[in-house]
Amino acid sequence: MAVKNKVVIVTGASSGIGRATAKLLGESGAKVVLAARNEDKLQEAVAEIKEKGGEAAYKVTDVSKREEVKALVDFAISEYGKIDVIFNNAGLMPNAPLSELKNSEWDEMIDVNLKGVLNGIEAVLPHFIKQKSGHVISTSSVAGLNTYLGAGVYCATKHGVKALMEVLRKESANEKMNVRTTTLYLGAFRTELATRITNKAIKERIEFLYDTIGADPMIVAEAVKFAIDLPEEVSMNEITLYPTAQL
Ligand SMILES: NC(=O)c1ccc[n+]([C@@H]2O[C@H](COP(=O)([O-])OP(=O)(O)OC[C@H]3O[C@@H](n4cnc5c(N)ncnc54)[C@H](OP(=O)(O)O)[C@@H]3O)[C@@H](O)[C@H]2O)c1
Repeated sequence: MAVKNKVVIVTGASSGIGRATAKLLGESGAKVVLAARNEDKLQEAVAEIKEKGGEAAYKVTDVSKREEVKALVDFAISEYGKIDVIFNNAGLMPNAPLSELKNSEWDEMIDVNLKGVLNGIEAVLPHFIKQKSGHVISTSSVAGLNTYLGAGVYCATKHGVKALMEVLRKESANEKMNVRTTTLYLGAFRTELATRITNKAIKERIEFLYDTIGADPMIVAEAVKFAIDLPEEVSMNEITLYPTAQL
């Protein structure tokens, strides 16, 4: 089954990659449920999809809270009757050297970037197992494949997402769940990700990177749509996208 009529949850849908993906999928005939914390931005994004004739709804959700993610999946099922795809995309990147001991930022990255993905998997898996189909898509990063100065905790969360998704793929095959998995390893895309960085030098460096070579998040949306559109018997397990000019 292609994108059309699939019910897709997108987390981190209030801006950047999640918003672009929700828009493209909505315009392509999916029934999209947008999730994030900022209600005004979610309302705006849903209105934009509906204006183009798409079907979309939103639910304010903090992905670090297990019960809220379960409620999000219940909401999608009550609105549209089923759930086919979850795009675990919410994340933040307040990078700083470990020596700055910004432990509340460490906790938040672990809770959102890693635990948020796990919460998404936990919430959809019983439904996917029952219906013997489903697709889990999660946003890692090139920081899930490499390590960078100032990105110790961010890299740890994104390597964690890689490990979780790889094991989910294997266990799905082993247990005949028929769940497809796709992990995104992304280089620099022009989004609001740098706004949460509190280390001035790192913030300026990332903003400069986005301003000079950052790619359009709609390209990620196209890749996600492609992965969903593939025949059910194949899973595009990994997608790595760098701007051509990025080292
Ligand atoms: N942009 C890049 O270059 C790049 C590269 C590699 C990987 N990534 C990854 O791509 C994903 C999307 O980021 P982006 O670049 O699109 O940045 P963004 O524009 O800052 O979007 C981040 C999204 O995550 C949401 N979010 C943050 N904390 C949340 C929480 N506790 N619960 C629910 N939603 C939450 C934000 O919404 P609210 O604030 O409204 O909750 C927002 O919608 C992240 O996982 C990021 O690590 C980005």
